[in-house]
Amino acid sequence: MVTLDYLVIGSGIAGLSFALKMAHNFPERTIFLVSKADEDESNTKYAQGGVASVFDLDQDSYQKHIADTLMAGDGLCDSAIVEMVVMDGPKRVRELLSWGVRFDTGKNGQLTLGREGGHSVHRIIHHKDSTGLEIERALLERVRRQSNITIFQHHFAIDLITEHQIHGTKPTVLSCFGAYILDQNTGIVETFRARNTILATGGIGMVYGHTTNPAIATGDGIAMAYRAGARIQDMEFVQFHPTVLYDGKPGQSFLISEAVRGVGAYLRNKRGHRFMPDYDSRAELAPRDIVSRSIDQELKKSGDPCAFLDCKHLDPEAFKTHFPNIYDECRARNIPIETDWIPIVPAAHYLCGGIVVDSQGRTTINNLFACGECSRTGLHGANRLASNSLLEALVYAHNIFEYLEHQEALPGSIAIPQWEDTGSQDARENTFIKHNTGRLQALMQDYVGIVRSTDHLNKAMDLLDMIYTEVEEHYRTKKVNVGICELRNMINVAHLIIGQCLKRKENLGGFYNIDLEPYPND
Ligand code: FAD
Ligand code: SIN
Repeated sequence: MVTLDYLVIGSGIAGLSFALKMAHNFPERTIFLVSKADEDESNTKYAQGGVASVFDLDQDSYQKHIADTLMAGDGLCDSAIVEMVVMDGPKRVRELLSWGVRFDTGKNGQLTLGREGGHSVHRIIHHKDSTGLEIERALLERVRRQSNITIFQHHFAIDLITEHQIHGTKPTVLSCFGAYILDQNTGIVETFRARNTILATGGIGMVYGHTTNPAIATGDGIAMAYRAGARIQDMEFVQFHPTVLYDGKPGQSFLISEAVRGVGAYLRNKRGHRFMPDYDSRAELAPRDIVSRSIDQELKKSGDPCAFLDCKHLDPEAFKTHFPNIYDECRARNIPIETDWIPIVPAAHYLCGGIVVDSQGRTTINNLFACGECSRTGLHGANRLASNSLLEALVYAHNIFEYLEHQEALPGSIAIPQWEDTGSQDARENTFIKHNTGRLQALMQDYVGIVRSTDHLNKAMDLLDMIYTEVEEHYRTKKVNVGICELRNMINVAHLIIGQCLKRKENLGGFYNIDLEPYPND
């Protein structure tokens, strides 16, 4: 058993920025940062568009950013939280700059601002079209230099430790004492005992058959917190990004940033019709839920497999400068943007809900905090405004730091049982996991997509129950490994999504049940 002050699970923007701040301000405190893959592998690394924040006080204002966030959130945002996050934004962005993140600047040295759907003005701070990669690089570089942070790559958090593991009971008020962590190199499950545990485990995209998210996005933190008894909310608000490169293959797909529509690209159907003005006066720059649903409807009407993003009228040199990554990826796939439209479809991208936290990042379990995409803060409501996610992660990592800096850091002396792993090995395990992951992703893709129906949601729940029973049986009797744990977590997350979809009786933001209201423009 190891004992430490802060256990941070996740090395994306949320986990890194919390760890960095705490380590820098309190050199005597120990921080363990665990990451189930390579230390830089995260949703953060793939972020393209940037960070939304108010910098151009001639064109923009806090009030405008607040209004845009509330509008996108469709009435479900917590307005006090929106105000807090937006007002804190510039401070957190300046902190990133001070940590060595290089955002694009113009000739006058001022930050260059991009625009994305739902934003009434230009306010997205970016590093070309690979903002996340640059943030991850800079933060990791600094974290590696902090002698009081130990990074554990390829270490998988299996479960949180609460009274349930210690006494076999679940009291009304729970506390977290750390987590059981599987060292993927040795196969041994270690007990990390921590006074405070910070979940920064990111998103859930892999629950769907088609997503912008990398393979790590299996909702582990949300599933762990749920099993431990934490409150989970707003899971029905899965955000589908409108423009994901269509290549006819399922799995993780390349994103074409919304910032491309921000510089004037058009959405067209196969016949060449620019259809977005038929659906919304903001056309291609309407909030993401509206654009994704409009594309979905165009595809359903025509039976076409994809729609198209037309960049032919844009200046190719400016495009190359602003979006080198996207330009190169399209070229590599034989899609010269100067002459060809880019084939796109919407795909699962972001979870607006998650582990409920208060303004200081506290979950409903004592000593357990959450920040970043795994948390539900109230900022996004029913639909996240583009590029508000990196911002939210920074603000909440900071708020948790501010709360914890005044708390005693030493771990308590409670005795924690070691992980029991008596199960057997199974040579057919990989086939079992692959098969059931495929079943899960197919049912979520087909029945819990952009437009849902009560019948399909019930069907999805029945199918999920069958998968759940088989997988739980396997989990209980076989030796623990990452594949089975991730599958189990994705099943938990899918259960939460479908269950919360069935409870919602009004279509809002990213949630649309056709049985509650006819499809617009049908
Ligand atoms: P992540 O960056 O996903 O990090 C999660 C970490 O947790 C990883 O290190 C992972 O290994 C670790 N982890 C997970 N489970 C376990 C476990 N069981 N044990 C140990 N470690 C674990 N948002 C914006 O605001 N602007 C954008 O421009 C933007 N573009 C995007 C583009 C793409 C393609 C994608 C996928 C997302 C984009 N987003 C964007 C969303 C944004 O990137 C994410 O919401 C944000 O980066 C999440 O950060 P995070 O720190 O919460 O989680
Ligand atoms: C994008 O660049 O389109 C992604 C922005 C986001 O998810 O906020």
